[in-house]
Amino acid sequence: MIRRLILAIALATSWPAVALADMIDTSGMQPWETCALCHGLDGISRMPKFPRLAGQPERYLVKQLEDFRAMRRRNDDSVMADNASLLAPAEIAVVARHFSSQSAPEPIDPAAEQDMAAGARIFRQGDPARELPACASCHVNGADPDRYPQITAQHPDYIAKQLRDFRAASRTNDPDGIMRSVAAKLADHEIESVAVYAASQPRQQRRKP
Ligand code: HEC
Ligand code: HEC
Repeated sequence: MIRRLILAIALATSWPAVALADMIDTSGMQPWETCALCHGLDGISRMPKFPRLAGQPERYLVKQLEDFRAMRRRNDDSVMADNASLLAPAEIAVVARHFSSQSAPEPIDPAAEQDMAAGARIFRQGDPARELPACASCHVNGADPDRYPQITAQHPDYIAKQLRDFRAASRTNDPDGIMRSVAAKLADHEIESVAVYAASQPRQQRRKP
């Protein structure tokens, strides 16, 4: 337990971990408390590089943690691979349940000058002419919601990074390559605009907090 907290803090700050070992005893802490430094205790991170986990489907969170551990998801500069590998197998289910059942975050307002039309069109309708499916067809209205992460009310920078990572195939844990084929059709400006639009939309509360 102590090792886990120190690792998390050492990754996030430059404080000497040795000094902390004397100061903090993590025994008796819940396994999700060590995630809070980056993701927030309520799963609503403040910093754009850390995804908001609150209200994500439990099964999606379990899958990501297992993928990080097994190095099937490798677009995290090893930060999450290290964190996930410190969880005992039984703790994966516990942290996934904790973050999944937190109240969904509020949407993130776009900057006033942002033109939302292009992002809205891609999100709601896609572009049949180039066989680009609507994001909402899976991420909002997907038949098996537990499979599809919520991308609404997510930090736009995080969404855009994931899309670039899928496009560059540095994130490759999407089943059947579905997101790699979607992202391959998106130009840079479309990635930016769909990310801002998705962030501005309400997140469904699928599990009771
Ligand atoms: C030092 C900061 C840090 C700590 C501590 C941390 N994470 Fe993360 N986590 C990240 C970053 C950065 C990413 C995004 C990686 C990327 O860009 O793909 C991430 C991504 C994730 C994702 C993927 C989310 C998604 O939408 O796909 C999950 C799930 C996750 N973390 C869970 C956890 C859990 C559970 C813990 C505690 C055991 C934890 N994290 C601790 C930094 C951290
Ligand atoms: C056919 C279904 C489908 C469509 C259409 C689709 N996605 Fe996805 N998307 C998925 C699945 C499945 C995953 C989860 C991959 C995994 O398990 O790691 C995902 C993952 C993502 C992620 C990573 C989320 C996270 O928390 O890390 C982002 C961002 C994303 N999609 C954005 C989009 C955008 C934007 C569009 C529209 C341009 C879109 N998706 C269209 C199925 C789809």
